[in-house]
Amino acid sequence: MTQNRAKLSRFGVSLEGELLRRFDAFIGAEGYDNRSQAIAGLIRKEFVLDSFAHGGPVAGAVTIVYDHHKREVVNKLMDIQHDHGGIIISSQHVHLDHDNCLEIVAVKGPGAKVKALADALKSVKGVKHATLSVTCPGK
Ligand code: NI
Repeated sequence: MTQNRAKLSRFGVSLEGELLRRFDAFIGAEGYDNRSQAIAGLIRKEFVLDSFAHGGPVAGAVTIVYDHHKREVVNKLMDIQHDHGGIIISSQHVHLDHDNCLEIVAVKGPGAKVKALADALKSVKGVKHATLSVTCPGK
């Protein structure tokens, strides 16, 4: 059986009492088991945001909701995805109801390219809502 866990390092943190009280309430509400886990999660979150802001590598998902009866929307979304094939890992299409489709486009690549794709998809006329969720590319 292999041990795949990174070696842990300990360090001390000093916080004002009120800030620590709010932090404990926050991590309880978020479902973290302990402060170490919460701090690691917050650090990784900041690293992802920093990488995205500076065009570094990210992974993520663009979700799009649109009315498929508007055929020009479907074609335009398809054209854009073909133009960004280098960063698209996969896409999933879900028929939400009679009119609406949900598309989930999984992406991995430089933050600037991921943002450009998300911006292009959400600005297509007829798209009702679109979001971009970014996360770390695996490290
Ligand atoms: Ni559909």
